[in-house]
Amino acid sequence: MKSRTLLFAAIAGFVGLAVMSSCGGGGQQKTETAGQTEAQISATPDAAQLARGEQLYKEKCIACHQANGQGIPNVFPSLSGSDFLLNQTKLAVAQVLNGSEKVSSGSGIKYPAPMPPQVDNYEDAVAVINYVLTNFENNGKTITVDEVKDVAIEPR
Ligand code: HEC
Repeated sequence: MKSRTLLFAAIAGFVGLAVMSSCGGGGQQKTETAGQTEAQISATPDAAQLARGEQLYKEKCIACHQANGQGIPNVFPSLSGSDFLLNQTKLAVAQVLNGSEKVSSGSGIKYPAPMPPQVDNYEDAVAVINYVLTNFENNGKTITVDEVKDVAIEPR
């Protein structure tokens, strides 16, 4: 009888522990998964946005930055592995909106001519930058329209 009670207590304790830990663990996992999903949504542009970005690149950027994004040395910078693009992505979006006379990369490199403003709205600016970020051997770390909405679009 005594050992039975002990066994029961042990089982009850074990079940209690299992329930508790599964609850805690489950809860934690859920938050983590939700966080990941959120990050993935904001980090992964949809196919339509990238298609729009490709269209814009071919229409507007290719003449200077070339089909492979390599640009032309000392005339148009390469968009492949550009430090400015990868690490100050929001400013790169601002440069596409407002041109390099208003938004400089700060690299100190003086190109023969500035980059003129290319697009006039956040959606297009983000689409084309995300296209560049997911091509030309870049790391694919993209940006969202929400992240750039506080960039002022200068009048032309
Ligand atoms: C008329 C030529 C021209 C066109 C068209 C053009 N760019 Fe540029 N781009 C430049 C020049 C010149 C610079 C360097 C500006 C500077 O830093 O003074 C530049 C710089 C950049 C940079 C920063 C790169 C770095 O490392 O400094 C990005 C990003 C960029 N352009 C993206 C684009 C995108 C995207 C498009 C098309 C929507 C585009 N450009 C169209 C000429 C052009």
